[in-house]
Amino acid sequence: MAGDKQGGGQPIGWPGQVWLEGRTLVHLLGEQTRPTHMPRGPAKRTGPGFLNPAMAPARTRSILLLNDALEHNWLVRPDQSIRVLDALCATGVRIRRWRNEIPAQAQHRLRITANDLDKFALDWAKASHSTHPPAQSVEHEPEDDRYGSVSEQVFDNGLNFRNIDARIAMMETGHQWIDLDPFGSPVQFLDAALQGLSRTGVLEITATDTAALTGSSASSQARRYGAKGIVDVYAHDDAVRLLLATVATSAARLDKSITPLMALFDGHHVRISCLIKTSREKASKISDMLGWRVREEDIPYRFVQHPSAEQVKRASGPMWIGPLWDKDIAARMTEEKALELCQATAEEIEKMKMEGLEWSDADVEYSGRELRRSVRYISDAADLMSREHLLLNLDSLPRWAGVGGAPKLEKLIASLIGAGYCAARLPDLEPLLITDAPFDTVLEQVRNKAPSTK
Ligand SMILES: C[S@@+](CC[C@H](N)C(=O)[O-])C[C@H]1O[C@@H](n2cnc3c(N)ncnc32)[C@H](O)[C@@H]1O
Repeated sequence: MAGDKQGGGQPIGWPGQVWLEGRTLVHLLGEQTRPTHMPRGPAKRTGPGFLNPAMAPARTRSILLLNDALEHNWLVRPDQSIRVLDALCATGVRIRRWRNEIPAQAQHRLRITANDLDKFALDWAKASHSTHPPAQSVEHEPEDDRYGSVSEQVFDNGLNFRNIDARIAMMETGHQWIDLDPFGSPVQFLDAALQGLSRTGVLEITATDTAALTGSSASSQARRYGAKGIVDVYAHDDAVRLLLATVATSAARLDKSITPLMALFDGHHVRISCLIKTSREKASKISDMLGWRVREEDIPYRFVQHPSAEQVKRASGPMWIGPLWDKDIAARMTEEKALELCQATAEEIEKMKMEGLEWSDADVEYSGRELRRSVRYISDAADLMSREHLLLNLDSLPRWAGVGGAPKLEKLIASLIGAGYCAARLPDLEPLLITDAPFDTVLEQVRNKAPSTK
C-alpha cells in the first residue's frame, strides 16, 4: 500500500490512539478497537498498520530472550554486537520494544533493522519511533551488506528501516538474529531466513496457520508441512513439534542444525525460537530428533522414529521429538525478569500520560498482570521441557485412572514432586502436566488425590 502522508509529513490517520505495550508507547490506528489486556485468540484485523495486541506476550518473551543473549553472552562475545532483523515488522512495535526495554548498558551492542513491504505500516513505525524516541540516543554506522557495499539505508536513532521484500532483506546482511512474524504460514520465508543468518544465529518464528499445523486442515498440513496430524489433546504440542521439524529439515539441507531455545503454542499461534548453527556434522544427525507420536493403549503416547504400518493410523508426524527448550535460558525467563525489563514505572506512566496515554490505575494493574502471565510457568517447566518428559492433559486422566474426576493440577504436581519426581505445568490455556514420573505412578497419584465421588 502506498505510504501517503498527510500535511506535516505524518502518515494518514496519525496519531491514532496511544497505547502502552511493555514500556513502549505505540500508536494504534484510530479505527482499531481499544485493546483489552491479555486478549486471547486472533484479533479482528482492520487492515494495513494493524497491531495485534494478542501478540504482546510473544513480543515480551522476545525481549527477554534477546536480553538474555546479551546478558549471558551465549550468542556472541561480550565485546561483539548482535545484528538483529525484524523482517516483517509492520508498525515496528517489536523493534521499538527491543530498543526501549533492553537495558541501556547493552543497547550499543544491538544493530537493529526493521523491514516491511507495507510502506504505510512502516511510516507508522517511523513516526512512532521519532515521536517517542528511546531514552538514550543510539548512533552507529550502517552495516555493510554481505556483497561489500553499504546498501541504501534509512538510519534513524538506533533503527535501520528497510522497505523491501523480506526475503531480500534477510539475504542482504549476515544477521545473527532474525524474527519472522508473517500472516499465516512462515514457510515461504524459511529458506531465505536460514540463508540470511550468520554461521551462528537465532531464528524466531511465529506461525498463525494453526489449522494446518494441528492437522485440523489435513490437506494444508500435508501440502505445506508434509505431515499427518491427529486432532486430539496433543494437537497443540504436535503443532509446535511439526514447525520445529520443518525448520530442522530445511536447515539440514543447508548444512545447518537447530537447537530449540523456546517453543510454545500460545492461544492462536505457534512461536518457536531456535539457535541455528552451520555444521555439516550436526546437520547430519538431525534425523535422530525426528519421529512420530503414536497413541497407545497402555500410555497416551510414545515417540517412535519410524512407525510401523499398523502404528501409522494412530500416529502424527513426522515431528521434532527432541527437547523443546533450553533449560538455563527458560529458567531465567521469570515473572520478576519480565517486570524488571518491561514494566513502566509510575513516573514513566505519568510522563506517558502527558504524551497522550489515557490509562487508569486499573490499566496499569492489568498490564502488570499481563507481563507476569506472558512468562507464567516457564521457569518452573524449564528443566523438564529441556529433556525427555511425558505430557498429559489433566482432563483426560480420570478416564485413564478409572476415577470420576481429576485432582487439582497443583495438587497432582505437588504429590508427584513429593514422590521424588519432577513435575510442572506447561504454559497453555489447557491444564497440561509435564513430568518424568512413569505413567502408572501418575495414575496412582490421580487415584489418591481424585476428589471423592461419595
Ligand atoms: C503479522 S504482520 C507483522 C506483525 C509485527 N511483527 C508485529 O509484531 O506487529 C506481517 C507483516 O508482513 C508484511 N509482509 C508480508 N509479506 C511481506 C514480504 N514479502 N516482505 C516484507 N514484508 C511483508 C506485511 O506488510 C505485514 O506488516
